[in-house]
Amino acid sequence: MRFAAPDNQRVILAERPVGPLADHHFMIEDVATTPPHDGDVVCRTWWLSIDAAARTWMQGRTYRERLEVGDVIPGAAVAEVVVSRADHVPAGTIVRCDSGWQRYATLPGSAVRPVDDAVPITRHLSVLDVTGHTAYFGLFDVGALRPGETVVVSAAAGATGSLVGQLARIAGARIIGIVGSDDKGALLVERLGFDGFVNRHASDLRSALRTACPDGADVYFDNVGGPILATMLRAMNLRGRIVCCGAASQYDKETPDPGPAGVPGLLVTKRLRMEGFIVFDYAHRFDEANAALRRWLDDGSLVAVEDIVEGLASAPGALIGLLAGSNVGKRLVRVAD
Ligand SMILES: NC(=O)c1ccc[n+]([C@@H]2O[C@H](COP(=O)([O-])OP(=O)(O)OC[C@H]3O[C@@H](n4cnc5c(N)ncnc54)[C@H](OP(=O)(O)O)[C@@H]3O)[C@@H](O)[C@H]2O)c1
Repeated sequence: MRFAAPDNQRVILAERPVGPLADHHFMIEDVATTPPHDGDVVCRTWWLSIDAAARTWMQGRTYRERLEVGDVIPGAAVAEVVVSRADHVPAGTIVRCDSGWQRYATLPGSAVRPVDDAVPITRHLSVLDVTGHTAYFGLFDVGALRPGETVVVSAAAGATGSLVGQLARIAGARIIGIVGSDDKGALLVERLGFDGFVNRHASDLRSALRTACPDGADVYFDNVGGPILATMLRAMNLRGRIVCCGAASQYDKETPDPGPAGVPGLLVTKRLRMEGFIVFDYAHRFDEANAALRRWLDDGSLVAVEDIVEGLASAPGALIGLLAGSNVGKRLVRVAD
């Protein structure tokens, strides 16, 4: 079969950032779509996931190889298979794939997963994928949450945090969110069932946390690291658990802050457990997480908060803004209808 290549457009890393991410670190280029070999599919991106972690991949080796100048920015997508040379994924199938920031991605058919269209398709990025799995396994496995405990989560109105708080509420915990604005805090309490919030810009964060959590915190789900982690170490109860999910407050810094005071002293005296994790450690249990998340979406106990940005060319600005806290919920770029 002849392949009539659609024109591709993609966003690449133009310069490795040092300090805050900016527009000039990206370049948009028009290229031909890579022709598919036997077993491949060509996917047309509809929706793209914007993740804080993308900033860390630019910096150095993490749990994946470092992104090099000229590479397409990686990212998960919901896409339509427009050309198929893989028997099990015919053209027209809607799939979840790692397309990266581009209009057309040529991928092995084995690397794309058809999605169920019984839920709005954006849910396959905002809840039923990495973000939801991170919240689910971070809170229940690493955090070992028990009913009646108090959970504090930072970046609580973000993609991961807004799910962590709701899952904690569903599990019978008391839940306090740390956010960057009072408007975000109001959304947590009024729409998502949080018990309260603390604005991270409060002049005295420690006393604001003491007011919000008079009995201390049993689980702290840390999305941001930095000074908030240092403050939370003091708010933890005996045998509390700190779930180290990420350090969004540090990603745009030329020189990251030193580790928090209180490590190891407070870990010892309070018998705290502080544990990092990478969601892909739980890949063998993603079906379990999706079944639970899907059930809570269907019965209305879990609300997906999605923050939509229009057009592939807006993707760099969408990530730059997310790192500064401009998003509410899961940030997604609509690349095509
Ligand atoms: N371990 C894993 O496997 C795994 C998987 C996925 C994600 N993650 C991590 O999860 C975290 C959340 O990622 P996400 O993609 O869901 O992003 P997100 O929470 O939707 O967005 C990042 C949020 O960080 C907050 N923030 C930015 N600068 C901050 C600062 N200086 N101090 C405190 N908060 C700040 C902002 O919220 P406010 O302005 O409202 O505070 C912003 O909305 C990241 O650390 C990411 O790396 C880890």
